[in-house]
Amino acid sequence: MKDIFQRFSRRAKIIFIAAGASALIIAIIMVAAFEPVTRRLVAQDAVCNTCHLPWEFNSDVRLTATKPHQAKTDQPKSQAQCVDCHLPQGRLNAIFAYTHFVSFTDLFGKFRDLDAERAGDWIPPRAATAFRVRDRLFETDSGTCRTCHIEKEIKPKRARGVNAHKLALEEKKTCIACHYNQVHRPVDLRKNAFEQPAPVGNKQSNLSKGTGND
Ligand code: HEC
Ligand code: HEC
Ligand code: HEC
Ligand code: HEC
Repeated sequence: MKDIFQRFSRRAKIIFIAAGASALIIAIIMVAAFEPVTRRLVAQDAVCNTCHLPWEFNSDVRLTATKPHQAKTDQPKSQAQCVDCHLPQGRLNAIFAYTHFVSFTDLFGKFRDLDAERAGDWIPPRAATAFRVRDRLFETDSGTCRTCHIEKEIKPKRARGVNAHKLALEEKKTCIACHYNQVHRPVDLRKNAFEQPAPVGNKQSNLSKGTGND
């Protein structure tokens, strides 16, 4: 390595090192910018709208089925973007925006299980997607909601909300378990939605009761 390097003139060496350093800096900037560029420039609502119908999911079009959702506490007119709720934060997660655009995965990085979808009871396609979104939010403890909302700081105005939020903290219930149908056209809850998996070795769980009824 040293020999090869000695063959170059001093000037060539400086150019060589400068080029290498710039390439490295550009690479670092690109890696750092990947997530913000994906969220703010690539995965814009308009891009989602090329496949998903605006009247169903955008709150600002005529005869929309979606309610507006404020984005910033101090700006009542601000509107949360699709990615705010649907694409979990993190540089690796930003990749799922692209794999979703080519229909490989959803925005949480899960491949579609087509066999299971075909084998189960028939569910209207739109309900099936709503169920999947709810399941992902449940699995991730409503992570995307929590990027804006801090649970301890939410102060519901009415007693019903105060009690529900006290219960949520005590029983570690997650946002989506109560706040479904918050924005889009309502879809009924699946019967066994938001069931926590039975703890391993818990004799009281339904799974190990073995009633033999089914
Ligand atoms: C190239 C087309 C395309 C684009 C662009 C696209 N999607 Fe999708 N999306 C789909 C398809 C196809 C499905 C699956 C629909 C089904 O199962 O009925 C889907 C499903 C979904 C679902 C339901 C979850 C699931 O697992 O099925 C959500 C939420 C979603 N997309 C959000 C978005 C958001 C947010 C964007 C913009 C960042 C976006 N999509 C951009 C094609 C697209
Ligand atoms: C405030 C959070 C939020 C925003 C903003 C949001 N969604 Fe959703 N979305 C949800 C939740 C929660 C569900 C799960 C179904 C339910 O309970 O409403 C969902 C469900 C969906 C589904 C599954 C089918 C259905 O109708 O339920 C699609 C597709 C979807 N969203 C696309 C979009 C697109 C496209 C945008 C942007 C134009 C968007 N969403 C903006 C929270 C949001
Ligand atoms: C981009 C930031 C952002 C995201 C993401 C977000 N919210 Fe909100 N949300 C707000 C702001 C800001 C308000 C209005 C001020 C307030 O009440 O805190 C609000 C209001 C609410 C309200 C009360 C007002 C109403 O419409 O009834 C509920 C409930 C709520 N959000 C639930 C959710 C859930 C559930 C999710 C995840 C699916 C979510 N939010 C995702 C920012 C966000
Ligand atoms: C056990 C059910 C439950 C859970 C879990 C829950 N909420 Fe709520 N939340 C409620 C009820 C009920 C209200 C009151 C609604 C009303 O008065 O119309 C409320 C009210 C709110 C409000 C409105 C506060 C206001 O200004 O009045 C926001 C924002 C909110 N919830 C966000 C969240 C977020 C974010 C999470 C997850 C961290 C969450 N909630 C978890 C039941 C729940």
